Amino acid sequence: MNWSVPLFDPDLGPAEEQALVDVIRSKWLTMGDRTKAFERRFGDLTGVQTALACNSATAALHMALEALGVGPGDDVVVPSLTFVATANAVRYCGARPIFADVASLDHWNIDARTIAQALTPATKAIVVVHYAGYPCDMPAILELAAAHRLTVVEDVAHAPGVKLNGKPLGSWGDVGCFSFFSNKNMTTAEGGMVTTRRPELAERLGWMRSHGMTTLTLDRHKGHAFGYDVVALGYNYRMSELNAALGLVQLDRLLERNALRAGLDTAYRERLALLDGLTVPFSRHRGESGYHLMPVLLPMGVERKVVMEAMRADSIQTSIHYRPIDTFTAYTDAGLGPANVPVTHDIGSRVVTLPLFPSMSRDQLARVCDSLERALRGIAAETA
Ligand SMILES: Cc1ncc(COP(=O)(O)O)c(C=O)c1O
Repeated sequence: MNWSVPLFDPDLGPAEEQALVDVIRSKWLTMGDRTKAFERRFGDLTGVQTALACNSATAALHMALEALGVGPGDDVVVPSLTFVATANAVRYCGARPIFADVASLDHWNIDARTIAQALTPATKAIVVVHYAGYPCDMPAILELAAAHRLTVVEDVAHAPGVKLNGKPLGSWGDVGCFSFFSNKNMTTAEGGMVTTRRPELAERLGWMRSHGMTTLTLDRHKGHAFGYDVVALGYNYRMSELNAALGLVQLDRLLERNALRAGLDTAYRERLALLDGLTVPFSRHRGESGYHLMPVLLPMGVERKVVMEAMRADSIQTSIHYRPIDTFTAYTDAGLGPANVPVTHDIGSRVVTLPLFPSMSRDQLARVCDSLERALRGIAAETA
C-alpha cells in the first residue's frame, strides 16, 4: 500500500548507493576494512573500547547473554513491552525470561522498583530496553544490580547516539546491543552492534560472532596470520561489508536525524495535548531521547481497531508497539506467561504508534493528528 503518511521511511540516498557500489568493486564483501572502520566510529560514539558489528540486535543480545554466562537454570529479568527478540535471546541460552512491569502509565520503561519485584533466587542478569529511545534510570538499576551481583545488558535498539547524564547509552551496562534494521534511527538493512567496556567479554564476543575462531579471514588474507584455532562454540553472526558501508554513511547523519526526530516529537506533543483523554508517554522526560517511536495511549474504552482503521482510510499507517511478549502463544505455551505486569497489559491494549521519521513534514504531522482527532470525535459521537 502506498501510504500518504507511512509509519517510517528510511532515509537513503546517493551516498548510500555509492558506498554499496564501492564495496562491490572492491570485491571484499564481508568483515573487512569497512566493518572495522564502522566498529571504530560506533565505539567512539558510544564511548566504549569494544564495538563488534554483527548481523542483528537479536544476534547481539544472544552473544551478550551467553558471554555473560547465562544458561540453563538461570532467570533473566526483561521487559514485556518490547520486541520479542529481547526475551527470545534469553530463551536461546536455555534460561528463563522473567517479565518486569513498566514503571508507570507515563514512564514505559522497567525501573529498579519493578525489576526488584521480578527477582528470583535464580536471577543472573537484567536486560533493559530504552523504549522508543527514552533512557531507563540506569544509575538506580545499576545500583540494584550491584547489590544482587547481577549483570546488566542494555537493548539500545531504539537509542543509538543517545546520552543519559552525558554518558552514552550502551556504555552503562556490561554489554550494549544495537539494531540497524531498516526501520531504526540508522540502518544497514539488517545489522547490529554489540558494545562493551569489559576486555574479557570483548574476546568472548569476538569468538561467538565467528565460530569461536581465533583469527579472521581478513587477517589471514593480509598475511597477519596463517591459521586459526577454534576455541569456543560460536555462531556465524558476522556483518557484511555492504552492511558496514551503509552503516558508515548513515552514522554521518545519525545525530542530525535524531535532532529532526526531537523537533517532530515536540510538535506532536503540542498538537496531541489538545485531544481529550489521549496521553503521550514520557511527558516528564527531560534530557536526550532517540525519539524512535511516537506512541500514544488512547482514552480508556476507545476501540483501538476503529481508530486504526479510520486512520488507514485516511492513508495513514499506524502500528502497535508492543503487544506484551508474555501474552504471545509461544510464551504462554511454554509457561512463561501471562505475567503479573498489569500496567504493561493496560498499555498493550491501548497503545497506538503514530508515524515518525526524520523526513516527515509538518504537513504530514498535522494530517496524522487531524485524522486521529476525527477518529476519536467520531467514536465519542457514536457512544454519546
Ligand atoms: C527493542 C528491540 N530489541 C531488539 C530488536 C531486534 O533487532 P534486529 O531486528 O536487529 O534483530 C528490535 C527490532 O525491532 C527492537 O525493537
